[in-house]
Amino acid sequence: MYNNENDLDDDNESYIPTELKVVVIGVSGVGKTSLCVRYVHDEFQDFSPTIGASFLQKIVSIGNCPLCLQIWDTAGQERFRAMTPLYYRNAKAAIVVFDATDDHTFIQAKRCLQDLKKHVPEDIVISICANKIDILKNSKGGSSSPAQIDQKLQDAIDFAKQYKAAFFQTSAKDNIGVNEIFQDVARRLLKMHMKENERQLMMAKRRKNSESNPYYIERQNSLERVRLNSVKEYDRVGCC
Ligand code: GTP
Repeated sequence: MYNNENDLDDDNESYIPTELKVVVIGVSGVGKTSLCVRYVHDEFQDFSPTIGASFLQKIVSIGNCPLCLQIWDTAGQERFRAMTPLYYRNAKAAIVVFDATDDHTFIQAKRCLQDLKKHVPEDIVISICANKIDILKNSKGGSSSPAQIDQKLQDAIDFAKQYKAAFFQTSAKDNIGVNEIFQDVARRLLKMHMKENERQLMMAKRRKNSESNPYYIERQNSLERVRLNSVKEYDRVGCC
């Protein structure tokens, strides 16, 4: 129903929740903090590994709808692994990050996503992010041949498809694809939220209609008659 951003240009403020929680997950060193900070503050610097999690907020506009993204940057170090699911609570979207130059982090991204799915509702918005593509571009693939790089990207795309997720290649360092991934998340969250509102509105309308519908009234009366008769029957027979 909402095929492009223009469809979201109506006055939709009434649909918008105040904050939408987005969790950013993936193993240590893939660039989660760098992506979040690049997106929110447009900066790139070296960070010490995240402890537990930290969060940043950013207001984004989709069409003329403002949305507040509450971005949770989780710790990727193994010692925090048991803690990460605590941050999944009420998350509406997840960005699973891996390092495009490190196959091991892709395998771990799959594990992270499977783990996430055990803790969140089915309709969570998921994105897969291959970060550090600047290294691939600058070194022309390093030890990997172009065919091998293409194959890796194809594997990531297939993986994303399997989970109905969007796939993005990013570089927090060179600011490639960073706005795009968060903007896409915001757009999909807004669509989902509007669909849910429409569904609830339709249900409310149906309920309202049913109250003035003769068939519904007859059903109500008939139920009431059954209820009264059963009470009468109960009175007549008595108890014990
Ligand atoms: P944890 O907090 O331990 O989970 O790590 P993280 O996933 O948050 O990684 P972080 O953002 O701290 O980045 C790890 C290292 O990768 C740092 O040295 C960053 O400078 C570097 N890095 C992050 N993103 C990029 C990128 O897009 N390109 C390059 N070349 N380096 C990056």
